[in-house]
Amino acid sequence: MFLSWLLLSVLGLVQHSVAKIYDDVSDLPGFEYDFVIVGAGAAGNVVANRLTENANFSVLVLEAGVSNEGIIDSSVPFLVENLLSGPASYEWNYTTTPQVGLNNRVVPYPRGDTRNYSMHGTLRRSYQLTFWAAVLHTVSSHPNITFSVNYAMLDGMVYTRGSAEDFDRYAANEKWTPPADNHDTRGEFNPAVHSTDGINSVSLSGFQWPIFQEHVIQATRELPDEFPFNLDFNSGEPLGVGWLQSTIGGGERSSSATSYLAPKFIQRQNLHVLLHAQVSRLVDPQSNAGGVAFGGVEFSQGGSLFTAKPTKEIILSAGSVGTPIILMNSGVGNKTALTALGITSVLDLPSVGQNATEQPGINAGWSVNSMQTVDEITQNATLFNEAFAQWNATHTGPFVNIPVTHIAWTRLDADSPIFQHVMDPSAGPKTPHIEVFVGTGGFAAGATGNFMSAGITVLTPTSRGSVSLQSNNPFDPPLIDLGLLTTDFDLFTAREAIKKAYRFVQAPVWKDYIIAPTIDLLNMTTDALDEFIRNNAGPVGHLVSTAAMSAKDASYGVVNPDLLVKGASGLSIIDASILPFVTSAHTQAAAYVVGERGADLVKQRWK
Ligand SMILES: *[C@@H]1O[C@H](CO)[C@@H](O)[C@H](O)[C@H]1NC(C)=O
Ligand SMILES: *[C@@H]1O[C@H](CO)[C@@H](O)[C@H](O)[C@H]1NC(C)=O
Ligand SMILES: *[C@@H]1O[C@H](CO)[C@@H](O)[C@H](O)[C@H]1NC(C)=O
Ligand SMILES: *[C@@H]1O[C@H](CO)[C@@H](O)[C@H](O)[C@H]1NC(C)=O
Ligand SMILES: *[C@@H]1O[C@H](CO)[C@@H](O)[C@H](O)[C@H]1NC(C)=O
Ligand SMILES: *[C@@H]1O[C@H](CO)[C@@H](O)[C@H](O)[C@H]1NC(C)=O
Ligand SMILES: *[C@@H]1O[C@H](CO)[C@@H](O)[C@H](O)[C@H]1NC(C)=O
Ligand SMILES: *[C@@H]1O[C@H](CO)[C@@H](O)[C@H](O)[C@H]1NC(C)=O
Ligand SMILES: *[C@@H]1O[C@H](CO)[C@@H](O)[C@H](O)[C@H]1NC(C)=O
Repeated sequence: MFLSWLLLSVLGLVQHSVAKIYDDVSDLPGFEYDFVIVGAGAAGNVVANRLTENANFSVLVLEAGVSNEGIIDSSVPFLVENLLSGPASYEWNYTTTPQVGLNNRVVPYPRGDTRNYSMHGTLRRSYQLTFWAAVLHTVSSHPNITFSVNYAMLDGMVYTRGSAEDFDRYAANEKWTPPADNHDTRGEFNPAVHSTDGINSVSLSGFQWPIFQEHVIQATRELPDEFPFNLDFNSGEPLGVGWLQSTIGGGERSSSATSYLAPKFIQRQNLHVLLHAQVSRLVDPQSNAGGVAFGGVEFSQGGSLFTAKPTKEIILSAGSVGTPIILMNSGVGNKTALTALGITSVLDLPSVGQNATEQPGINAGWSVNSMQTVDEITQNATLFNEAFAQWNATHTGPFVNIPVTHIAWTRLDADSPIFQHVMDPSAGPKTPHIEVFVGTGGFAAGATGNFMSAGITVLTPTSRGSVSLQSNNPFDPPLIDLGLLTTDFDLFTAREAIKKAYRFVQAPVWKDYIIAPTIDLLNMTTDALDEFIRNNAGPVGHLVSTAAMSAKDASYGVVNPDLLVKGASGLSIIDASILPFVTSAHTQAAAYVVGERGADLVKQRWK
């Protein structure tokens, strides 16, 4: 649901070629299109790009976001998303319901978009609670700089594909349909190496922190059993410690907006994007042989409602929160629950919004005996401004990256006691349960001066939550219950993950580098550590499964393996909400994969 400022400012420079991005519905040439795509996020923009490769297809993308030329910071990787300072903020202002597993805390749940909400106070708070805050607090600590993270789609630009086993599991459990021509799809889902001629840029870091980096690599030599060096964790076999890869090109964020909707694509005559268009529901349901077909997509702009008319398909790409709430507002969901809210049930699909899966994250920090940390820059306005000026002038320097250098992917010990009563939820033995993301600074409670930080994530949570409606008003915020840390497995794994991070920094090489942990999480009873986790963990923003794919004959699920909604026709879902399990990774890469695969499926249907 995100259209980056960068795109808009780039387009601003090319003036009239931007004609295909409309701000005002009255400028839209018409309301009838072959395909109406809801949401300009990672997957939605991929689908828009791929479908309009066929000049015979007309495509309208409806995006709730606004344009705001002149805000350049979103393209500076270090600033992640500097969209929340000032009068406007650019996300949905969602909070969770009280989270039982987090000692009943209500936590902000930022979902990136570009609507003009003003609430940066809430966002600031959220960063204290989330994994991202963990690593990037330095950014929000700069008085005028906070960052919005498009959690659904673009997050911190970290590009991690997950394990081959993750993708094999989707295929095995969900009977992902082979393409009609039965061509070999290896390589479409798990490109073993990197393509150099794709659309979205992925790169290694463009700024070095030599002392820190050498320590990390040396630690992999000293602890080769637990933390082996992995040359490329995007090979399908992620276990070990590898160099960060990010969706960054030429020192700038590469998002689906800057890549798949780059000027050369947006100029296509058959592609229109309408901004400030918040979709409320699908309307005009009719029963036909294939199931319920909706005749229109209702959206609001400037307080008025309009209806776009798809002649072939509606494609929901509104993300793991937006997609299920649009379905439910359209009468697609649990009939009992919708009826109780006064929404006419159109299609009884109780799995809509259920099985919501999010990864819990927590952070740790250590004060260090080195001046080569990002705190040197972020805690010194002169250096901060210099770094920004350098980025601005040459797209080089420390701002070309987030301040993270490596990721360690690791598993629970095979003989962990938890496995005596819980089945291993990972996709297989080559798939991590735990991520430890290390960098030269960032947030760590109580830290001042120079420090290193670790973002620690439970990748394979067994807790499940839900996204539901609180009323029949489609503009009311939804109820988001992430169910974080509500299972023994997740709490156990969070504890083990912290211990793993501490074991990594116990490699001899760190001895003279690390002074002390900012909070000594090892020197705690299990009860105290659990309490610390419950009071400090937060969602990392990798929500999936709220419109999950399942086998065609399954008794649950929302879409079939062809991504068409069960019991409907002309309605598909192409975003991370269809993933039946979360990847043991960040979800950005998976969202692109879903977009590419989904676009192929749509093209096959309509060729
Ligand atoms: C577009 O439509 C024309 C006319 O119906 C047809 O000849 C052509 O093959 C179509 N192009 C594609 C890519 O389907
Ligand atoms: C955000 O809203 C404020 C006040 O409502 C308005 O002045 C400002 O122009 C809006 N910003 C954007 C980017 O639409
Ligand atoms: C954002 O959420 C907070 C707390 O949930 C609420 O007080 C505030 O009014 C909301 N702001 C907007 C613009 O919706
Ligand atoms: C922060 O922004 C305010 C208002 O734009 C400005 O007056 C102030 O100088 C800025 N502070 C810094 C440290 O840039
Ligand atoms: C549907 O919702 C009702 C009311 O919330 C609930 O009791 C019921 O279990 C749900 N049905 C299914 C199949 O999940
Ligand atoms: C949640 O997913 C599991 C499979 O992982 C399935 O058995 C269950 O029926 C699903 N629940 C709903 C409400 O869809
Ligand atoms: C900030 O950095 C500049 C340039 O290195 C240095 O002269 C200044 O003393 C630093 N300020 C503080 C408060 O450390
Ligand atoms: C960024 O560069 C532009 C010219 O490309 C210049 O006008 C502007 O002042 C620069 N801003 C900073 C903070 O260096
Ligand atoms: C644990 O904490 C106690 C009390 O604060 C302290 O005396 C002791 O040195 C700590 N032990 C370690 C291993 O840090």
